Amino acid sequence: MPVSAAQRFAKFFEATSDCQFYVKRDEDGRFKYVHANPAALAVVGRSTEDELLGLTPVEVMGEEYGKAVEYNISEAFHQGRPYHFSGALGTDGSGRVYDAYYYPLIDESGSVAGVLGSARDITDIKSLNERLLHAQRLEALGELSGSVAHDFNNVLTILQIALRNIGDENIDRAKRDMILDEAQKAIDNGAALTRRLTSFARKEKLNPVPHDVDKLVSSCRYMMQRALGKRIRLRFDLSSDLWKACCDKNEFEIAMMNLAANARDAIDGEGEVVISAKNMVRATSAPLHYPEQYVEVTMRDTGNGMSPEVARNAILPFFSTKPDGKGTGLGLSSIAKFVNDIGGAINVESALGVGTSVSLLLPREAI
Ligand SMILES: Nc1ncnc2c1ncn2[C@@H]1O[C@H](COP(=O)(O)OP(=O)(O)OP(=O)(O)O)[C@@H](O)[C@H]1O
Ligand SMILES: [Mg+2]
Repeated sequence: MPVSAAQRFAKFFEATSDCQFYVKRDEDGRFKYVHANPAALAVVGRSTEDELLGLTPVEVMGEEYGKAVEYNISEAFHQGRPYHFSGALGTDGSGRVYDAYYYPLIDESGSVAGVLGSARDITDIKSLNERLLHAQRLEALGELSGSVAHDFNNVLTILQIALRNIGDENIDRAKRDMILDEAQKAIDNGAALTRRLTSFARKEKLNPVPHDVDKLVSSCRYMMQRALGKRIRLRFDLSSDLWKACCDKNEFEIAMMNLAANARDAIDGEGEVVISAKNMVRATSAPLHYPEQYVEVTMRDTGNGMSPEVARNAILPFFSTKPDGKGTGLGLSSIAKFVNDIGGAINVESALGVGTSVSLLLPREAI
């Protein structure tokens, strides 16, 4: 006897390791399960479809994840087209990550009859991907070691000359100060180089904690002024009602030092750097997991700015327009990695001959 199309599809539904389910909207506008395959039942800890029938995702998965699923379903339902979601879902707090598609099923009258969901567990693929990316970073660092060694050699040479000259008994005070200044700059450069490399190679996830952003910014003041030098004025413009933001203090300081170094190179002489901070709410239709409230910290400089092409590439690892030995091209990419890791973002705006603004969006502390 021939196998009917319905039988074939029923077999697919049962056998696939993807979680599949079908929900319909009741008269109260609530989405309720009508079907779920064995893979979906296993994820929510049920053994038969009957145990799920007539329940909403929140009733099955709890507030946090259930709401996210209901949001995704209602997007597909109301837009009348497939909706894609990738992120943590589940019931057991295992943090497993799913790639899910929600398809509206349109009936003969042209209205949406229900929504079909299909979710694939991509936790292992994601972690493999992360490991691969990390391996690629390490490989890139390996390739870079030649030029790093060259930069360090410069630092050592300057220090060697400084030590030799400073030992000279006939040297006057002004000359000694100049030598010390040069030596200090060389040490700062060496330290900045190691900081950039370690933060680029960093593998562990950061553990951001809430900080007062004005304190965080002010604590970098001295270091930033020193990096900028005497000819660049440093100004602060911080809103008085700033939220606390989740951030890793060390990484934040490194980021500000990197930005200050970029501003100094772009100004090349006299100019101004303004650091501002304000609360910011980003309008987004993304599912609930993404923070929408940030504290935005911006460093604006009066430097020579970037062409649109440079601005587009600026945050790519190893992209640099600076001469050999002057820039590794890891400054902005390390900052981008850091803010991404804490759930924030980076924005670069620049105009040739006018200046550059780099904004770091730090997620507001959970309230
Ligand atoms: N404030 C700025 N003004 C103008 N151009 C900038 C600014 N910041 C970054 N850029 C451009 O973006 C490029 C990449 O910056 P990034 O900080 O990543 O690397 P780098 O400064 O070249 O090297 P490194 O920071 O590793 O020493 C720079 O080479 C420069 O062309
Ligand atoms: Mg830089």
